[in-house]
Amino acid sequence: MYGADPRVVLGLHRSRHRRDLLTAALGLGVTALDTAAPYFGFHSHLALAETAADLLPKFTLSTKVGFFPSAGGAEHSLDPVRLRLAVERAARELGREPDIVFLHNPERSLAGLSPADGHALLGHACTALAGAARDGLCRVWGVASWDSRPLGRVRVEGLPSPDVLMVRAGLLVGVDLLNATTVLRTAWQAGETWGMSPFGGGHRKVWEDFDPRPFLRPPQDDLSRMQAAFRTAFHLPSASAVAVGTDDPGHLAQLVQALGAEVDTAAVSQYLRALHGHRQS
Ligand SMILES: NC(=O)c1ccc[n+]([C@@H]2O[C@H](COP(=O)([O-])OP(=O)(O)OC[C@H]3O[C@@H](n4cnc5c(N)ncnc54)[C@H](OP(=O)(O)O)[C@@H]3O)[C@@H](O)[C@H]2O)c1
Repeated sequence: MYGADPRVVLGLHRSRHRRDLLTAALGLGVTALDTAAPYFGFHSHLALAETAADLLPKFTLSTKVGFFPSAGGAEHSLDPVRLRLAVERAARELGREPDIVFLHNPERSLAGLSPADGHALLGHACTALAGAARDGLCRVWGVASWDSRPLGRVRVEGLPSPDVLMVRAGLLVGVDLLNATTVLRTAWQAGETWGMSPFGGGHRKVWEDFDPRPFLRPPQDDLSRMQAAFRTAFHLPSASAVAVGTDDPGHLAQLVQALGAEVDTAAVSQYLRALHGHRQS
C-alpha cells in the first residue's frame, strides 16, 4: 500500500504533542503519525488540531478507537455503534479524516467470551470499521493489537480483513507472541503488517547488557545498540513500518539513519530457531 522501503511511524502514545517534534519529523522525511483516541488523556486529536493543524495534511495520519472515557479512567468496547461514533468524532476533532483507523486492542473485550461469541463480537467491530472506510470517514482501516494471542483463539477466518495489522515488534517480544502473530496474519490475510513499540516503551538498560548489532549486515559499529534494535524490529515480525515513540528530534534522526542499515535475515532466522528450541527444551 505504501511502497517497499521500511518506514518510521512516529507514535504519540507517550508524546508531549509538541509542534517542534512534528516539524522535525517532516524535516527528516518521517511522514507517518500514529495516535489514538485515549492518548494524551483523551486529548490527542484536539491537541494535534490546536498545535499543528497546518502540518497534519502533510502526514499519513492513523488513529485508534476502542477505548472510551469512563469514571474509572478508560473502558474498552467493541460496540459497533460506539466505534462508528468514535471514528466520526476523531475526524471532527482532528479537523480532517484520518488515513487509517485502527481497532484498538480488540483482545481487551474478548476475555471470558467463548470463541463463537468472540468471533461474532470482533466481526461486528471489524464490519463497523470497514463501513467507516467505505463511507469515506477514513481511507483504510486496521487492527492494532498489543497481545495478538486472544485474536487467534476466536478464529478470524471469514471476518473482514484489515488493511493494516499493527502488532508488537522487536527483540523484546517473546516467541509465543511472534508465533501468534504469524498465525493470525496468515489467517486474516491483512494487507500490511506494522510493528510497534520496538523498545517496549523504554527499558534502555536492556541494551547496555545486550548488543543487537550482530543482527546487521555487515555489523555496524557506527550505529548504536538502540538503532540496531530498531532496525531489527522490522523483521520480528516482518513489517513494512514500525511505530516508535520519541520526544527527542535527535533520537528520531538516529532512527531514520538506522533505516539505511541492512538486517542479516539469516541471523534473525537463527535467533528464531534458538527461541523455539529453548521453548521446547
Ligand atoms: N496497542 C497499541 O495500539 C499500542 C500500544 C503501544 C504502542 N503503540 C504504538 O507504538 C508507538 C511506540 O510505542 P511506545 O512509545 O510505547 O514504545 P517504544 O517506541 O518502544 O519506546 C519509546 C521509548 O524509546 C525511547 N527512544 C526512542 N528512540 C530512541 C533512541 N534513538 N535512543 C534512545 N531512546 C529512544 C523514547 O525516549 P525519548 O523520548 O527520550 O526518545 C521512549 O522512551 C506508540 O506511540 C503507538 O503509536 C500502540
